[in-house]
Amino acid sequence: MKTLFINGSPKKKLSASSYFIALQKLFVKGQKVSLNLRTKADYQPILNELHNVDNVVFCLPLYVDGVPSHVLRFMEVMESYCSDNNLHCHVYVIANNGFIEGRQNEPLMQVFEHFCTRANLTFGGGVGVGGGVMLNVTRILFFVDIALLLLNIILSVVHSGNFFPVESWISFIENALLLLFFNCGVLFYLCRMGMKMNKGEIAGKKYTRIMLPSFVFIIFADIFFIIVSIFEGGLFRGWLSKKSLDHPIA
Ligand SMILES: Cc1cc2nc3c(=O)[nH]c(=O)nc-3n(C[C@H](O)[C@H](O)[C@H](O)COP(=O)(O)O)c2cc1C
Repeated sequence: MKTLFINGSPKKKLSASSYFIALQKLFVKGQKVSLNLRTKADYQPILNELHNVDNVVFCLPLYVDGVPSHVLRFMEVMESYCSDNNLHCHVYVIANNGFIEGRQNEPLMQVFEHFCTRANLTFGGGVGVGGGVMLNVTRILFFVDIALLLLNIILSVVHSGNFFPVESWISFIENALLLLFFNCGVLFYLCRMGMKMNKGEIAGKKYTRIMLPSFVFIIFADIFFIIVSIFEGGLFRGWLSKKSLDHPIA
């Protein structure tokens, strides 16, 4: 069995889609190939792979309640390519969105269902994930947690010659379990879809989200986006920058 993972995020690195691909790969057997879909230059390598694969997994963000336009353009090309070359693979989808409810990915899933019908492919199902940005942050926090543990071990060895600082280990395990809990809905449904994929079965559409109450999510999301605005220029380069008089804002 060979599975092609298509990363439909336009981000070059650290996209939430790449995180979900890494998780999905844990549960899929056989040969696995990952390709990015960002520009037209990415079309041909993906189309070439379609000849040899049993499953295609599209992993992509939700944009304005739908499929990002660069992915839609590719789907048009893939639809005729599959029909012309008589290709019949299973198509699965992992869609993630910034807001908390994974069910917001339903219109996107429907687009993929119609695409499969038109291209004569089998829609194997999908997982819609709410709070994708925040789940992606949990993987970064996990590595920060590991770095802190290593730092504490080094400090403990230098100060007291103790290679096993119990409190640091307990704190590391507590944090890791908390991060695992946030991800448990996604892990459950990706595991389920992986098992179905391995058997060549239809998984159906499932929706999940980061395991956080919405009121907590909103507070963290607000803090996160204020920090991102400051560091990525939205606040200073956008709101506070001098406006050019050549292009007055209407
Ligand atoms: C242009 C644009 C439109 C978006 N539209 C939505 C939306 O309609 N609903 C939503 O919940 N999130 C929306 N988002 C947030 C993305 O779905 C979210 O950031 C996602 O985690 C990005 O995934 P990626 O890192 O794999 O690219 C939008 C983001 C962008 C840049």
